[in-house]
Amino acid sequence: MASAHWSCLILALLSGLSQQLESFLEEKVHDIEVYSTKISCKVTSRFAHNVVTTKAVNQANASKEVSFDVELPKTAFITNFTLTIDGVTYPGNVKEKEVAKKQYEKAVSQGKTAGLVKASGRKLEKFTVSVNVAAGSKVTFELTYEELLKRHKGKYEMYLKVQPKQLVKDFEIEADIFEPQGISMLNAEASFITNDVLGSALTKSFSGKKGHVSFKPNLDQQRSCPVCTDSLLDGDFIITYDVNRVSPANVQVVNGYFVHFFAPEGLPMVPKNVVFVIDVSGSMSGRKLQQTKDALLKILEDIKETDYLNFILFSGGVTTWKDNLVQATPENIEEARTFVRGIEAAGMTNINDGLLRGISMLNKAREENTVPERSTSIVIMLTDGDANTGESNPSKIQENVRNAINGKFPLYNLGFGKYLNHNFLESMALENNGFARRIYEDSDANLQLQGFYEEVAYPLLTDVEVEYPQNAILDLTKNTYQHFYDGSEIVVAGRLVDEDMNNFKADVKGHGAINDLTFTEEVDMKEMEKALQEQDYIFGNYIERLWAYLTIEQLLDKRKNARGDEKENLTAQALDLSLKYHFVTPLTSMVVTKPEDFENQMDIADKPGEAGSYHPPAAPSYYVDGDPHFIIQVPEKDDAICFNIDEEPGTVLRLIQDPVTGFTVNGQIIGDKKGNSNPETRKTYFGKLGIANAQMDFRMEVTPESITLWNGAAQSTFSWMDTVTVTQDGLSVMINRKKNMVVSFGDGVTFVVVLHQVWKKHPVHLDFLGFYVVDSHRMSAQTHGLLGQFFHPFDFKVSDIRPGSDPTKPHATMVVKNHRLTVTRGSQKDYRKDINNGMKVTCWFVHNNGQGLIDGVHRDYIVSSLF
Ligand SMILES: *[C@@H]1O[C@H](CO)[C@@H](O)[C@H](O)[C@H]1NC(C)=O
Ligand SMILES: *[C@@H]1O[C@H](CO)[C@@H](O)[C@H](O)[C@H]1NC(C)=O
Ligand SMILES: *[C@@H]1O[C@H](CO)[C@@H](O)[C@H](O)[C@H]1NC(C)=O
Repeated sequence: MASAHWSCLILALLSGLSQQLESFLEEKVHDIEVYSTKISCKVTSRFAHNVVTTKAVNQANASKEVSFDVELPKTAFITNFTLTIDGVTYPGNVKEKEVAKKQYEKAVSQGKTAGLVKASGRKLEKFTVSVNVAAGSKVTFELTYEELLKRHKGKYEMYLKVQPKQLVKDFEIEADIFEPQGISMLNAEASFITNDVLGSALTKSFSGKKGHVSFKPNLDQQRSCPVCTDSLLDGDFIITYDVNRVSPANVQVVNGYFVHFFAPEGLPMVPKNVVFVIDVSGSMSGRKLQQTKDALLKILEDIKETDYLNFILFSGGVTTWKDNLVQATPENIEEARTFVRGIEAAGMTNINDGLLRGISMLNKAREENTVPERSTSIVIMLTDGDANTGESNPSKIQENVRNAINGKFPLYNLGFGKYLNHNFLESMALENNGFARRIYEDSDANLQLQGFYEEVAYPLLTDVEVEYPQNAILDLTKNTYQHFYDGSEIVVAGRLVDEDMNNFKADVKGHGAINDLTFTEEVDMKEMEKALQEQDYIFGNYIERLWAYLTIEQLLDKRKNARGDEKENLTAQALDLSLKYHFVTPLTSMVVTKPEDFENQMDIADKPGEAGSYHPPAAPSYYVDGDPHFIIQVPEKDDAICFNIDEEPGTVLRLIQDPVTGFTVNGQIIGDKKGNSNPETRKTYFGKLGIANAQMDFRMEVTPESITLWNGAAQSTFSWMDTVTVTQDGLSVMINRKKNMVVSFGDGVTFVVVLHQVWKKHPVHLDFLGFYVVDSHRMSAQTHGLLGQFFHPFDFKVSDIRPGSDPTKPHATMVVKNHRLTVTRGSQKDYRKDINNGMKVTCWFVHNNGQGLIDGVHRDYIVSSLF
């Protein structure tokens, strides 16, 4: 009696306390009102483009921190993030990891907003951003991520984590799916509630090629109970679908990129010889072993009679169920059950001997023909720890296993729990044509194990090879697969050498259970275009992005087993693509910092001597950046002209020379690390700039490492690591740490030098500089040089715009300086504000080193030294 009474009292106290806590929390939550959350998903041919937008207002009368958390699939890459506070937008930038990390740390140490992505949970990782929002201010967060949905067990699955933490007036998930093969089934469900309770909030439909899902619960539908103010929405929202398979393969082509999906149905299963290599060391004992046994017993129920199997148990030593593989006859399965039930765990972990025993058993069965000729082999290894006896050096184990398997069959590694070296398991599986999977220590571990087995239980083809016409395809993703498993899909993407090709043929070859098969797909480009045009919400370059996604994913996988130069090379390739396509991958990060206001800095540098008499131009008019790309913006025409100069590394070019004011600017060209001397393909940049004014007795040398100033004989040197402003006698030099430098000579002459830093170990590129003339109005009409000659007004006319060989780059006729030139529409980049991505500037490109546009020929601008 007494004890019951006490527990009631405690309960009452606890509930009183929790109520107080709740109202306290509520007050806090309501300071920040999240009034809108939208998740918009557009899926085109398995490629998902998701945008999560949350809007909040700070209702408090003091500034408050607002957090934005999004959990997204680990297999997805973030591609964009923007933060908008009171109408001002701050974009996120995809940067190389080291750079990003430093900026992140710097931003955090300065108390600024910063976002980085962290792993979280089984399938998801978390993106978090916090920002301080002034009283009454509004903030909008927008995160975009992309992912190729992979087919498992006959369907594509998209996970959306839903966790608004408060009631949201305007909450919506909307998914539009477009599949050129036609949709065969579509479902949507929420883990936190049954669909009938959600009722009208959830709608889903599909017809033909299009599918649609909408989840739009009103405030009442969001409440966890009719009078509650907390949200019911907390968990996974899962959309699953599949496509029609009229033909086993489907090829789609857009803008010269193609993707090839292959998933034949209705083939007989290839019999398999499967060896389970199971860790029974001491650490497995208890629940882990019980769950493993439960899973193995369930797998034994599903195993087909044509399969062969064996169990290898390893702890300090190795024991086996049978000496050789045996067929899965009912009698053998019964005996296997008894064996599995009796498994006990104790001792050390000898992964090496366990695996080698299993592998040699499969090799022997094949050599002695004790398994069917058209069967295939698989090794499934499960462990919960690191090797600690026998051969325990991971790289030695990898070498032993690689040599023993010798590419003949795949190895799948399952890592149970978290006390193990997952990188080792993954790397070993990948180099043996398999993959590694984590088994999370949880009540459903047995289901995770079974789920994995089901994925590899039904091989329909072995030694699959996807072939295309020779010399017609570039940049192909992985096109050979050891197995095709029922319910999965092989995806190969690449680029056509000739975009205007009318048709091409793709073959998929493989060995089936009964015979060898070749599936041929004829692709008719005209029909393809028609089929894809039907669709209006398609994002135009989805196949190119899908290709980039797949390529990066495979490069990263390959990188896990690469060493030395090869690893550097793979890293450089993956990094290049990640930056080019704005993917946040393990090599890059999305960094969001409320930028120090570059505009303001420019203002300070440009501040006119006589107030109000002069307004600096909104855009730079003349600059040179990248592989020297010269850009001349002509504000009167709202257009730009551009040209390249290709010269040997070491050459010094005259950019500006004004005999009246005494200014000269020269730039020295550098090549890349490889010393490529082919003018067609080599990249050159400016590696050194010399800025001088003879009348002021002033000189300045800028390299990607340092900045040296000479005033008469006095010399000072600065590093790009400095943030420093130097002013004297009408001269101002402002160095913005690792970004850019603004040089002003009083009123009327301002240059900006942009620092481009590439990854130090980049196999090809070196750091280089960009040079921008922001203001030149005080220079004389006699100014000359590759940029200087354009400072005085000049005119040009463009006519007869006509299609070029590339539809996005039309040709035209330009009349300039009494020359008639053929020019091509192109674009260059202005990196003043965004050093990583630049701002696109479209321009008319003048060929042949600017011939006809520049006075004389480009060699006239070569000078002997920087000063
Ligand atoms: C917020 O406003 C209330 C009432 O106007 C005032 O009493 C309180 O001091 C204010 N709090 C802050 C932090 O300004
Ligand atoms: C990122 O999103 C913003 C806002 O929607 C958009 O203006 C910008 O173009 C996007 N950037 C990229 C690289 O897609
Ligand atoms: C790096 O990759 C490129 C492109 O695939 C290849 O041509 C080159 O040989 C590779 N270099 C090294 C050192 O592996």
